[in-house]
Amino acid sequence: MHDDLTSLSRRSFLRFLAGSPALLVLPGCRPSDRATSGARADTDVSDAALEEALKSAEQAINVFDLRDAAQRSLPPAHFAYLQTGVDGDATLRANEAGLARYYLRPRRLVDVSSLDTKVRLFGIDWPTPIVLAPAGSQRAFHPEGELATARAAKAQGHLQILSSVTSTAVEEVASARGEPVWYQLYPTGRWDITQRLLRRAEEAGSPVVVLTVDIPAGTGNRETLARAVRKDPRDCTQCHGSPIDDLRRKPMYQGTEFTLEDWSQARLTWDFLGRLRDATQMKLVLKGIVTAEDAHRSLQYGVDGIVVSNHGGRAEESGRASIESLREVAAAVKGRVPVLMDGGIRRGTDILKAMALGADAVCIGRPYLWGLGAFGQAGVERVLTILRNELQIAMRFAGAPALREITPSLVGLP
Ligand code: FNR
Repeated sequence: MHDDLTSLSRRSFLRFLAGSPALLVLPGCRPSDRATSGARADTDVSDAALEEALKSAEQAINVFDLRDAAQRSLPPAHFAYLQTGVDGDATLRANEAGLARYYLRPRRLVDVSSLDTKVRLFGIDWPTPIVLAPAGSQRAFHPEGELATARAAKAQGHLQILSSVTSTAVEEVASARGEPVWYQLYPTGRWDITQRLLRRAEEAGSPVVVLTVDIPAGTGNRETLARAVRKDPRDCTQCHGSPIDDLRRKPMYQGTEFTLEDWSQARLTWDFLGRLRDATQMKLVLKGIVTAEDAHRSLQYGVDGIVVSNHGGRAEESGRASIESLREVAAAVKGRVPVLMDGGIRRGTDILKAMALGADAVCIGRPYLWGLGAFGQAGVERVLTILRNELQIAMRFAGAPALREITPSLVGLP
């Protein structure tokens, strides 16, 4: 994945940043230092929107307000790390456009005066089907990083999935969350390291391990990130080390010895699932399944759940919306295991559409990271509140007072 391990030249550093899921943040790059740069990432936010700064998270009317606020707050390279897809960002755009293609077919004269948004996953009831997707390196967005996210998840009652490349260790995050988090696994080629990660997650109480299976080619060509890094005048090498050093410094990998080749997920195959199963009592969920073929295979291998995901358009540039993959996967799974879906969820109506098309729950990535980047814990809480409120409104308008009543007939295509 990384072709220059030793040189800290700017050029190799940029290559690393563009290819790494493990952006590491050190003091000089923290958001509090943002004022040193007037430069901004070249993204999809209009200047006019940026002029209107939010003074508090509460002022945000929708999640996009927090995106704009995050852009104002974050160093350009960090905001671009949050936003980027791969290549021309076609899959990233497809995720949102794919959801927008569906319209709603509301039913009238249904009593929607009280709503039930509870969802049961592996024997645990959650008050809401909105889950915080795993995202690495959250201290790139706020000094409190994953801890702020955990506190927000606790305050608002959401399930949190913690990334393997978290900038805060699982033990601390679980304690801030007050309840175990699901643990997302990037195994290395070194089995002893994988075992150690599993043990730590188990000891921190994680009931579920989420194996991400969609980055066999590393993280692809993150052009949006690479361009923004070029425009960012900071000297990134003050904070970031060589690719392998940055990875090894990640809290979950600290003290371990592995090479960049070990880190590559290119050798990961279905056989690995058996090994994983034998090594842990945790439920096993695969993240990154996008076809019926792989959904069938997942069931044959006895997985406990699936997250339909194209990594928010950050893995393969398939050009296919995650919501389309969801339809296919849900049809194959037929309710035998829970199916979660992520990619492009920005509105309560998106959540309703995903649930109508077969999701038991949805994960959000960028939206809560926008909140985190803008206002830390308060920003994450605001995003969760906005999405829950929007979902409730969408359910009332659709005539679906409970999640189980969100059926395929509630959506249509032109
Ligand atoms: C991610 N995602 C991710 N997935 C994963 O399995 N492990 C990880 O470490 C990360 N890291 C990560 C960082 C950032 C900055 C982003 C935006 C995303 C993917 C994430 O879990 C999820 O699949 C997508 O973010 C969902 O798409 P949306 O909601 O961002 O459109």
